[in-house]
Amino acid sequence: MNIKVLKDYEELSQTASSYIEHQVKKNPQSVLGLATGGTPLGTYKQVVQSYQSQGIDYSGVSSLNLDEYVGLDKNDPQSYHYFMKEHLFDHINIQDEHTFIPNGKTESLFEECKRYEGIIDEIGPPDLQILGIGENGHIGFNEPDTSFESMTHIVDLEVSTRQANARFFNSFDDVPKQAITMGIGSILKSKQIILLASGERKAEAIKRLLQGPVDEQFPASALHHHNQVTLLVDQASYQLIEKE
Ligand code: F6R
Repeated sequence: MNIKVLKDYEELSQTASSYIEHQVKKNPQSVLGLATGGTPLGTYKQVVQSYQSQGIDYSGVSSLNLDEYVGLDKNDPQSYHYFMKEHLFDHINIQDEHTFIPNGKTESLFEECKRYEGIIDEIGPPDLQILGIGENGHIGFNEPDTSFESMTHIVDLEVSTRQANARFFNSFDDVPKQAITMGIGSILKSKQIILLASGERKAEAIKRLLQGPVDEQFPASALHHHNQVTLLVDQASYQLIEKE
C-alpha cells in the first residue's frame, strides 16, 4: 500500500483530484468508481474547478458509485443520486447515461443487487476507485463482518454509521436503516484504488488499517489484498501513526 501524507484537507483534495484528472487525460473512456460522504467533497470541487479552467473532457467517462440508501428516491435531496448531481455530475460534461448508482427504491432489492453487479462487470471494473473510510473501518457501506468476497448486496447500517451520517439529515431517525452497496469483492475488482481519510475522527481507523490485522472485523483491511492501493491521508488522520 502506497501512503501519501498531505498537510491538510485542501492538499488532500487537490491530490485526489489530480489522480482523477490524470486518469481521464490518459484514457478519456475511463471508468471512475466514486464515493459520497463528506471526505470527497473537496476533491469533487477541485475536479469541477479544473474542468472549468482546463476543459478536461468527461464526455467519454463512465462512473460507478459505491452505494445508495434503501428507500430514497433518486430525486430525494438526501439520496446519493442527488448528492452526485449536486456536487459533481451537474458541473462537468459527463453524460447522464454513463453514470451508474444503485437504485435503492425498487420492488426487488435482490434483483437490483444482481443488476448492479452485472453493470460493474459490463462497463467496469473501475480504472480508478475513490474510497472513503468509516470510523468502524467500513468501505462502501460494508460494515464489520462483511465477507471479503461479497458482491453488491443489501446491508443493515450500524447505529454508529447512521449517527455519523445524521449530519446530512434533519434528524437521526431520518437516516435510512439499510443501504445497497458494492461488496468488498466488487471493490477489489478495481484496477487502482485511492482511499481518502481526513481529520482526527479517522485517526483510529487509519492506525488500525496500517497497523492492525487483516480481518473481516475491519473491512478496509481487505485493501491489503490489492496491489494498487494508495492511501491519501492528511496529518490529522495520520497522527496516531506518527506518534509511534
Ligand atoms: C460513501 C461511502 C462511505 C464513506 C464513509 C466515510 O459512498 O461509501 O464508505 O466513504 O462513510 O464518510 P465521510 O467521508 O462522510 O466521513
